Amino acid sequence: MRKPFIAGNWKMNTDSRTSVQLAECIASGSLEVAGHRATVAVFPPFVYLQSVARALSASSVAVGAQDVYCQSNGAFTGEISPSMLKDIGCTYVLCGHSERRHVIGETDELINKKVAAAISGGLLPILCVGELLSEREASQTKEVVTRQLRNGLAGLTAEKVSALTIAYEPVWAIGTGRTATPQQAQEVQNLVRNLIAEMYDGQLAEEIRILYGGSVKPGNSAELMSEQDIDGLLVGGASLNVDDFLSIIRSAV
Ligand code: PGA
Repeated sequence: MRKPFIAGNWKMNTDSRTSVQLAECIASGSLEVAGHRATVAVFPPFVYLQSVARALSASSVAVGAQDVYCQSNGAFTGEISPSMLKDIGCTYVLCGHSERRHVIGETDELINKKVAAAISGGLLPILCVGELLSEREASQTKEVVTRQLRNGLAGLTAEKVSALTIAYEPVWAIGTGRTATPQQAQEVQNLVRNLIAEMYDGQLAEEIRILYGGSVKPGNSAELMSEQDIDGLLVGGASLNVDDFLSIIRSAV
């Protein structure tokens, strides 16, 4: 049985006061609505990670970073290493989020290095994959997701990949209000699980959690979660609203 995983990606939002306030409300609320039946994690901006981690230290809500660099230390101005994130209480890290791929310009190769460095540094990465609208319209979804997954996991053993979560986030559904239908999402989630079975083994494919992300809201989360290969949700906009995020958590358990 795969435990439902609800992740809140705050992106470049909140401030020093509202980040802690949001985290505290999510911690008390999620215990009420889901107990320990779901994995819940929040991904605040780098500068608020430490204060959010402190505020959540006695709770069951985990903290993750939105990005990480692929080296452990040295002359990499502006970057943050896996050990630094671990040091301040992070458990998870997003790798290859679509905004990093398409706004910042990260390549599959860099993302692969980040995933490997995160795992070696003791973090649990969430590798994000997903096609652009133009790629979906050109019937290239399968090809794009396969490439991102194979390249993202290049050189990683099954043991390392067991630390991983995967998130399928069609780029055209992120922040657009246009959610993939549960069937569209399920089709790709199933493709991802089959790829893991092919690249590694059936047991790992059964165990790995695959999240869906892209305009998840309280109104569509239950339907998405009812699909067989959707094990959780990566929530952007709606994770900044306590009531919305809590009702999404409630719908997942
Ligand atoms: P959204 O973002 O829920 O605002 O579409 C999802 C994400 O980017 O992870």
